[in-house]
Amino acid sequence: MYAKVLGETPVGLNGAGVIVEVDLERGLPGFEIVGLPDMAIRESRERVRTALKNSGFPFPQNRITVNLAPANLRKDGSGLDLPIAIGILVSLGVLPQAKVQNKVFIGELSLEGVIREVSGVLPMVLEARRQGIPEVYVPVGNGEEGSLVDSVSVFTPRSLKELVAHLLRACLEPLPHKELELLEAEQGETDFADVHGQKVVKRALEIAAAGGHNILLVGSPGSGKTMLARRLPTILPPMTEEEALEVTKIYSIAGLLNNKAQLINQRPFRSPHHTVTLSALIGGGLVPVPGEVTLSHNGVLFLDEFPEFSRAVLEVLRQPLEDHFVTINRIQGSYVFPASFLLCCAENPCPCGYLGDEVKQCTCRPADIERYQRKISGPLSDRIDLQVHVPRVEYKDLQARKAEETSAQIRTRVCAARNIQLKRLRSLGVYCNAAMNHRQVERFCKPDAAGNALMENAFCRLGLSARSYDRILKVARTIADLAGSDIILPSHIAEAIQLRTQQNQ
Ligand SMILES: Nc1ncnc2c1ncn2[C@@H]1O[C@H](COP(=O)(O)OP(=O)(O)OP(=O)(O)O)[C@@H](O)[C@H]1O
Ligand SMILES: [Mg+2]
Ligand SMILES: [Zn+2]
Repeated sequence: MYAKVLGETPVGLNGAGVIVEVDLERGLPGFEIVGLPDMAIRESRERVRTALKNSGFPFPQNRITVNLAPANLRKDGSGLDLPIAIGILVSLGVLPQAKVQNKVFIGELSLEGVIREVSGVLPMVLEARRQGIPEVYVPVGNGEEGSLVDSVSVFTPRSLKELVAHLLRACLEPLPHKELELLEAEQGETDFADVHGQKVVKRALEIAAAGGHNILLVGSPGSGKTMLARRLPTILPPMTEEEALEVTKIYSIAGLLNNKAQLINQRPFRSPHHTVTLSALIGGGLVPVPGEVTLSHNGVLFLDEFPEFSRAVLEVLRQPLEDHFVTINRIQGSYVFPASFLLCCAENPCPCGYLGDEVKQCTCRPADIERYQRKISGPLSDRIDLQVHVPRVEYKDLQARKAEETSAQIRTRVCAARNIQLKRLRSLGVYCNAAMNHRQVERFCKPDAAGNALMENAFCRLGLSARSYDRILKVARTIADLAGSDIILPSHIAEAIQLRTQQNQ
């Protein structure tokens, strides 16, 4: 007997439909799966066989051939266990073919026949909806992400047995549809109110958060760089619904949503250690999974002790910083993952840490300083819009214990500025000033004559690149938005230039 059941597989950040065909023939007992299966699917043979047996179903004593179509699509993961098992039950006549028509099944089987969660359920359910499938069956542990998709009935049977009973007698209810709830950053342990003084750095972080600009903090040990950077998430504006859905899809593919009641509704903040490998940063593996740059999409990628990262790791950041996506090439094709993040870096100015310090003497040799600073190549530093010196905290600031501005107060201004940007840019698919392309910069960031003169002067004096020209204008746009000004004033441009070049002076 022949049976046909629908499944899904993740491909990059999306889902793709898989048709599972099962054929039973007379002959020596055997169980073959064809159609480019990966290791997980070969193992699925054993799981399906045992799960069927332990759920009290017969396992056919014939030759079973399972074909996963389309053949040229690389299938990934164990989520095809369930449609394969259902296909076998249909071909055995336990289930009528009509009962599985127009339904998609996703899930891994345990040996006792329990349906286990898999990665990528959100994009797979989205794909099923795109194909016009009315009913989707997903593991209980993935119910939260499945229920985000409307106009599809999502069921979460616990076991193969329960699923078969439901298919025969319709005894389960679909999950209620859930809206993605957007949360503002939590008022938690960390708050800018804990940081005394450091007015200039706080202002720079506020601009970075408002426009999504990259920022580098340079200062001597203990000046508070890590402390300041860790508070950046507390002043970020909430995500738009589109942004939240993108991020949730990424975390679904990366398998980071399983068993979590919480969906991703806050901007991600990732801080990989400096020993991070290339593939962990950019994404990798036989079937690529997203790396840190993609996991920080729409949020912050924080690289503390910046020069400690290997040169190769820093260089690969160039593509995502420019294009806002990464490409990973594999034999079976190239994968594109989104990677639009705010890069925040912290470093000491030299190996000993005290170059330019107001009190302590630097003990490094000039050659060592040069080698240390060269680590961050021109092209990379060119992409960092705000380069700020973090000075030693003054004793009177530390000791004064005067009330500092809270994160909530700063965030109110950031959100106002971000809303202005959204009004201007959302219809173009852009959510912040930093993400504007060259054309959009020309359209929205026109300085007046005085501003132009200022730019020209800075260009000649500081040897700025063409790329930094656009980047300064974007930062100036954000400063104007924070001030609620429609036009970019010379003072906005002056501040943008100053913030870009501060630590070199
Ligand atoms: N402005 C400040 N207000 C209050 N406390 C501060 C301030 N700056 C630094 N501190 C205190 O100093 C500690 C060390 O700061 P932090 O770890 O951020 O320094 P750092 O610049 O990252 O140093 P390193 O270069 O060694 O990594 C903080 O945990 C905090 O307790
Ligand atoms: Mg630190
Ligand atoms: Zn030094």
